[in-house]
Amino acid sequence: MRSTVGWKADRDGTRLERVALERRDLRPDDVAVRVDFCGVCHTDLHALHGHTGDGPLVPGHEFTGTVTAVGSDVTRFAVGDPVAVGNIVDSCGTCAMCRIGQENFCHEFPTLTYGGTDRHDGSTTLGGYSREYVVRDGFVYPLPDGLDPAAAAPLLCAGITVWEPMSALGVGPDTRVAVAGLGGLGHLAVKFAVALGARTTVLSRSADKADDARALGADDLVVTTDEQQTAAARDRFDVVIDTIAVPHDVGPYLRMVAMDGTLSHLGHLGPVTVDMMDLLVGRKKLASAGSGGTTTTAAMLEFCARHGITADVEVLPSSKVNEALERLGRGDVRYRFVLDMADLA
Ligand SMILES: NC(=O)c1ccc[n+]([C@@H]2O[C@H](COP(=O)([O-])OP(=O)(O)OC[C@H]3O[C@@H](n4cnc5c(N)ncnc54)[C@H](OP(=O)(O)O)[C@@H]3O)[C@@H](O)[C@H]2O)c1
Ligand SMILES: [Zn+2]
Ligand SMILES: [Zn+2]
Repeated sequence: MRSTVGWKADRDGTRLERVALERRDLRPDDVAVRVDFCGVCHTDLHALHGHTGDGPLVPGHEFTGTVTAVGSDVTRFAVGDPVAVGNIVDSCGTCAMCRIGQENFCHEFPTLTYGGTDRHDGSTTLGGYSREYVVRDGFVYPLPDGLDPAAAAPLLCAGITVWEPMSALGVGPDTRVAVAGLGGLGHLAVKFAVALGARTTVLSRSADKADDARALGADDLVVTTDEQQTAAARDRFDVVIDTIAVPHDVGPYLRMVAMDGTLSHLGHLGPVTVDMMDLLVGRKKLASAGSGGTTTTAAMLEFCARHGITADVEVLPSSKVNEALERLGRGDVRYRFVLDMADLA
């Protein structure tokens, strides 16, 4: 085994503690990555809140780093290459979904970067809040030149999660897009929509994010706690990208979807109650999505390189991980924390 260091949850998920960790010896198709920067996703908070103490929890599933070793069969990467890894590290490779590059929908369920079960040795995967990660080469992406490695890390979860549905829904010039929840996912959704030429609106409970929304390129911001503003936005958007991190009523958001439009519900992934009349009136669609396939992820990175898109980040030394999570929990982030892992060297 290879030894490294990382941040592991205590029994009840209230704090992360710095501990020694082990990574597997490289298989022929493995790449060892020195993790340089790892984003802090709201899903990490959900995982900590749901942590029962059974099995180890090391969060982190959007990171960039540098290749330090490659297995004997690896040809796409060499030592020293800058790379990026997201929230999927393996899949069956043979089902219909995997064959079309939608490994995120693998019929055997993809192996998640943390809290997943390794397909070969049955171990629980440990995430990117650590100095080293060992990952199958097919789930490693070259980091394009010109993208800042700290600001690019969040593209690998927050970015791809909103990119894939937006591209599947054909967002382009003149699509009327609204992004609900201006956080990690939301601010990247705004940047993508604007770069794709869409007319872009932010739906937020926070009126004080209006200047930020405009700075990100959005045309306007609807304050969702203001009934007059939401009523005025009735039937206004072809696509609503919902990234709200808590359970919420989808009714008001469906009523802002235009005829034949879609509400893509990507944020909180529990059950929702839908009044069918909110779909019937206007033939509207309610959809969801999760992460992205390898083909789409590579395409997103190429788009980001071409358009100079990265996340707006606050970089902290990894020793401040507990502070970052606590601040994320109370919405005190503009718009993504990224941990600098150099202090684990
Ligand atoms: N589908 C997937 O594969 C996938 C992937 C990654 C993450 N997620 C999920 O997506 C959600 C967003 O993640 P994130 O990292 O972007 O989180 P985030 O940075 O915390 O942003 C979430 C946003 O939701 C809004 N929000 C938060 N609390 C709220 C409340 N009590 N009431 C109404 N709105 C509230 C806020 O926007 P405003 O202040 O603008 O209202 C906040 O900025 C999380 O639930 C995460 O688990 C899903
Ligand atoms: Zn995530
Ligand atoms: Zn599969």
